[in-house]
Amino acid sequence: MKDIDRAIKFAAMSIKNDLLLRAAKGEKTSRTPVWLMRQAGRILPEYRAVREKLSGFKELVETPELAAEVTIQPVDILDVDAAIIFSDILVIPDAMGLPYEMIEKKGPHFPNTVASPGDIRKLKVADPSELSYVYDAIKLTKAELDNSVPLIGFAGAPWTIFSYMVEGGGSKTFSKARGMLYTNPADSHELLDMITSTTIGYLKGQIAAGADLIQLFDSWAGVLPPDHYSEFSLRYISRICDSIKEVPITVFAKGAWFALAEMETLSCRTVGLDWNMNPADAKKILPGKTLQGNLDPCVLYGSNEQIEEETRKMLAQFEGHPHIANLGHGVYPDTDPEKVKCFIRSVREFSSR
Ligand code: CP3
Repeated sequence: MKDIDRAIKFAAMSIKNDLLLRAAKGEKTSRTPVWLMRQAGRILPEYRAVREKLSGFKELVETPELAAEVTIQPVDILDVDAAIIFSDILVIPDAMGLPYEMIEKKGPHFPNTVASPGDIRKLKVADPSELSYVYDAIKLTKAELDNSVPLIGFAGAPWTIFSYMVEGGGSKTFSKARGMLYTNPADSHELLDMITSTTIGYLKGQIAAGADLIQLFDSWAGVLPPDHYSEFSLRYISRICDSIKEVPITVFAKGAWFALAEMETLSCRTVGLDWNMNPADAKKILPGKTLQGNLDPCVLYGSNEQIEEETRKMLAQFEGHPHIANLGHGVYPDTDPEKVKCFIRSVREFSSR
């Protein structure tokens, strides 16, 4: 038995609801497991109540007891088949020496950015212990979950982290980050390499603390041309996948439908699909992977009947292939939690075999 199979088997043995881990392994399950990207967050009034009492987002991320509390909220309230640790992908640049701020209603902002080779020299590959507050949150969450459902750990893919460090926040064009790949490929690789090394140490820390599965979020995959995506993103994702043998990995590369064939060659177990991707094509291109996704998050603005209908259609499209139900990207903050519950109920009901 390979190390990864042994690790998954052990985890699955001890977790009561092991649907996610079994589906990730490619096994047939009694029904399709379901969770939502960004389920721990602003859609829940219970989250907003915790958040309101604090100085800001970072305090929540950096206080393990509170991070554990909001991680468990969606498991209790929404009845999902997995928890995802409450944190942010931006803890990585922070630990490397580039701090972020979370600005209310606007999103992340970096007071300093990477604009020249000199800026890269000021950064470091972070020692994994710098992120011990995340490992503590994982340990507390695992204890509180008491093996009811698996806990997902996560990190941003190096290209997405690179984009934030160069752009200083979100962007419409990503012209600074994409431009640097042309004007300064060697330094771009150096920075991506540092992010990758930091991320591997960080993910190993999450796994040692108890994470049962890891998801890599490449949120800005879709802005790169295919050859640059292979060279500046997939190369580093591949290194991370090859370094993590302890638990199954999911790679979610938003907008990277052009790279699905290459993803079949990654040593990850699951590939996430966004709502632009066609499940029928993905099933053919990725015969060896479990697929995750891919309902348009906007379906949840519709009526319960529409949600049931669209969920049924989505499940039918993945029929015959290992599948983890999810949205095609994070749930939007103005979504009614009752509609999320309707989606989850629909998956449970319509996928039962
Ligand atoms: O999925 C979960 O429920 C776990 C928690 C989680 C957060 N961020 C908490 C958060 C996860 C997995 C993330 C990942 C993340 N963070 C991504 C990748 C996923 C994706 O959606 O593409 C990205 C790109 C970020 C960066 C980030 N963090 C942005 C752009 C923003 C602002 C806009 C937004 O989506 O809310 C954040 C803030 C953030 N991260 C919030 C939460 C709950 C909202 C902040 C608040 O509570 O005020």
